[in-house]
Amino acid sequence: MKRILLPHIICPACLPKEHQLSLSAHCEEDGDIITGTLSCKKCNRRFPIRDGIAHLIPDPDNGPSGGQWRYEEAEMTDRYLWSHYGDLLGVADFGVANSQWAEFLCALNPAVSFDAGCSVGRLTFEMAARSSLAVGCDLSHGFIKTARRLARERQLKFSLPLEGNLRESFCIELPDTWRSDNVEFVIADALRVPFAGDTFGQIASMNLLDRVSYPLAHLFEMNRVASNQRASFLFADPFSWSTSAAPEELWLGGTINGPYKGRGLDNVRSLLEGKCKILTPQWSISLSGVIPWKIRTHCNHYEVIRSEYLIAMR
Ligand SMILES: C[S@@+](CC[C@H](N)C(=O)[O-])C[C@H]1O[C@@H](n2cnc3c(N)ncnc32)[C@H](O)[C@@H]1O
Repeated sequence: MKRILLPHIICPACLPKEHQLSLSAHCEEDGDIITGTLSCKKCNRRFPIRDGIAHLIPDPDNGPSGGQWRYEEAEMTDRYLWSHYGDLLGVADFGVANSQWAEFLCALNPAVSFDAGCSVGRLTFEMAARSSLAVGCDLSHGFIKTARRLARERQLKFSLPLEGNLRESFCIELPDTWRSDNVEFVIADALRVPFAGDTFGQIASMNLLDRVSYPLAHLFEMNRVASNQRASFLFADPFSWSTSAAPEELWLGGTINGPYKGRGLDNVRSLLEGKCKILTPQWSISLSGVIPWKIRTHCNHYEVIRSEYLIAMR
């Protein structure tokens, strides 16, 4: 974990109180802490840094719960690598989703950026190319390890099924304009974001809301860590509500009755615009729409997902 992150980090277990963590670094290379411990003096919890990866979750030694285990499978990492970097691989008919998401980011923002549920990090790299520092967080150890490796080595080989037992190999090479010195990836929960309030000038939540166990708590956390004065929020989701992620009464859409009946995008929009004053200061929506993107199983089989998006500013 890069030392430059330290001033922004707080204890995820003490939230909503914000207590800074103190670092004891055992091994450090050029400002990158390879082994160490972050400790909270209030609750006495310790958060390890192992192989350069900060584990900023309240119970770092617990394994994945619910449906989260599938994001730890090696094949899933390779599928997301293809989905995030396919345009760099020159894949035919890949689509334009990645470049469209990047176009929605502020062209040049001196602020710090945050990508919640970053997976293997495409959008985080795009944010880093446009801001002073970009942080991606995900619960998946496999994804964070892969994103950090890509940042360090700047190239990565992987393969996916071509047909049956045949495999097709790919090699990602990061463009020179994407920086490694101002990007970081940490293991953290988007429901207990381990960063101080009012930290980030640019935030993103992409295809995550319908995966978390408490969607409103996720929006609340994103709102908390975004700058109060001047921030932009790129939000997208396919709204694939499922009880395997969250009980129906906590969905923010897709139901006939209840406070969040109707369509998810409409409900997220009105929450951001100040409904019930849950998310304050309120946001204004500058753009919305739908962008399709793909995830590959084998060379003749793809899943197409349509993500509805909002760009909010305040
Ligand atoms: C559908 S994927 C989307 C990944 C990426 N944002 C994208 O759009 O390609 C959902 C991601 O959220 C992560 N995730 C799920 N629950 C999470 C949580 N509570 N906190 C942080 N990440 C989470 C998963 O590990 C996975 O990487």
